[in-house]
Amino acid sequence: MSAGEWWREGVIYQVYPRSFQDSNADGIGDLRGVIDRLDYLHWLGIDAIWLNPITVSPDADVGYDVADYCGVQPVFGDLGTVDQLIAEAKERDIKIVLDIVPNHSSDQHPWFIDARSSRTAAHRDWYVWADPKADGSPPNNWLSAFGGPAWTLDTHTGQYYLHNFLPQQPDLNWWNPAVRDAFDDIYRFWFDRGVAGFRIDVAHGIVKDRLLRDNPAATKDDPPHVRAYGQRTVYNVERPEVHDVLRRWRSLANGYEPPRILLGETYVRDVRTMGLFYGTGDELHLAFNFTYLHAPFEASALAAVVAESEMVIPAVGWPVWTVSNHDVSRVMSRWAGGDERKLRCALLSLLTLRGTPVLYYGDEIGLPDTRLRKADLQDPLGKRYWPKPRGRDPERTPMHWTDAPGGGFTDSGVRPWLPIGDVAARNVADQRRDPASTLRFVRDLIAVRRQRSDLRSGSYKQLASSVGVWAWRRGGGTTIALNLSDEPVVVPAIGGTIVMSTNRSRDGERVDGGLALSPWEGAVCSSAST
Ligand code: NOJ
Repeated sequence: MSAGEWWREGVIYQVYPRSFQDSNADGIGDLRGVIDRLDYLHWLGIDAIWLNPITVSPDADVGYDVADYCGVQPVFGDLGTVDQLIAEAKERDIKIVLDIVPNHSSDQHPWFIDARSSRTAAHRDWYVWADPKADGSPPNNWLSAFGGPAWTLDTHTGQYYLHNFLPQQPDLNWWNPAVRDAFDDIYRFWFDRGVAGFRIDVAHGIVKDRLLRDNPAATKDDPPHVRAYGQRTVYNVERPEVHDVLRRWRSLANGYEPPRILLGETYVRDVRTMGLFYGTGDELHLAFNFTYLHAPFEASALAAVVAESEMVIPAVGWPVWTVSNHDVSRVMSRWAGGDERKLRCALLSLLTLRGTPVLYYGDEIGLPDTRLRKADLQDPLGKRYWPKPRGRDPERTPMHWTDAPGGGFTDSGVRPWLPIGDVAARNVADQRRDPASTLRFVRDLIAVRRQRSDLRSGSYKQLASSVGVWAWRRGGGTTIALNLSDEPVVVPAIGGTIVMSTNRSRDGERVDGGLALSPWEGAVCSSAST
């Protein structure tokens, strides 16, 4: 692996900055706090941190509405703190990946403030404007991902503007070359500071149909999430022209030494479409696989997504896996239902599939979603749809470092921005001391990845196994098996030595005549000396 290709073999750790570590007792996590926790991340063994947006924002969508792409949200720190974070992380061989939001800005961004000032404003064409229909209604049938029409009438200028998310998040017009140039400058600004790459928000959907055609209605043959939405988003999201922009960004990123990486939020729910975002090795380095994240926690379903991904992702591409993020219920609650055995099976898959794992903060100690009251909510989606469907605050609550009041996240007596949950039940300090804990399991598994090239770069081959079991070989000498069922099983294809089991008491055990697994048990085995 060349130094520039760390992202293929490394582990990326996602930090939701508001919830990681509060360093100044205001109840909100910040960049100084991330710096203070670098030793922990180094101990854990991760290679890079992806930070959710840290740029200036009025927080209508908790940072995903950006008012200054090159400025730091004061509550998090300033440019100097970012520089310090990059430098101190580098000392520990950790890279910093930021989040960029090119689909839309905040309505408070100076570009949009100018754009809405008049039809002839310099930045008018930086956003997507259209006249009302004759009856005054929106220009077409596009819907916001957050509910309601994707258009809001600007009464001052008499036209509608497009927002695929909140009205406070006007969509940028990616047909305008000036917008493309402006984002090139933003990438350069951060790349020049030493940022290792970007997670790109809505990477699949920034270009809109030039003719603003109506989306076709969903049909009974569409998957449930499309039927629930009522239309196929072929004109306001899934435009093929987005690939031109991704190629442009890739060549910009490749111009750096080492090349900067592009990790796309390709929120499409079919693997084939996801695979297109790798291009011919000239678009994204890593395209998030939401089909895996949303699959049921069943051996056959997960194996099928992986098999298809293996087929679809071009040889020049590289898979990326995640089992939780800031938009999706945590794996401990979603897949594991609070069962530690299931959680460890999920984490074992994350860290041993062929591809780059992205580990969401807190999953290493098995944080569950936090139960919240309506008054606690910060997420606009949660507020809008309370009590259902659930908003995204439950998976964004503060990290548990200790069992002290404030959980080591903030000072005792300070009210965190979201409730912290039950810090006594799970926290880093307790689990660090306990060799049988999930934290130590994750850390040891990351260490095993480092030792075994099979796990970092070996091929993936699914092995024959019975119903409820998912087993695969990595490279020449490493096999992994998960028993995702309530019955004990024997996986005949596996022999050798158990390198690590989800039930740690079996580490080092010899396996002859097949690997016996208890219900919801998994193991990594060595069949050779790789
Ligand atoms: C995806 C982000 O992950 C999510 O949190 C945000 O609300 C939308 N994009 C809009 O930016």
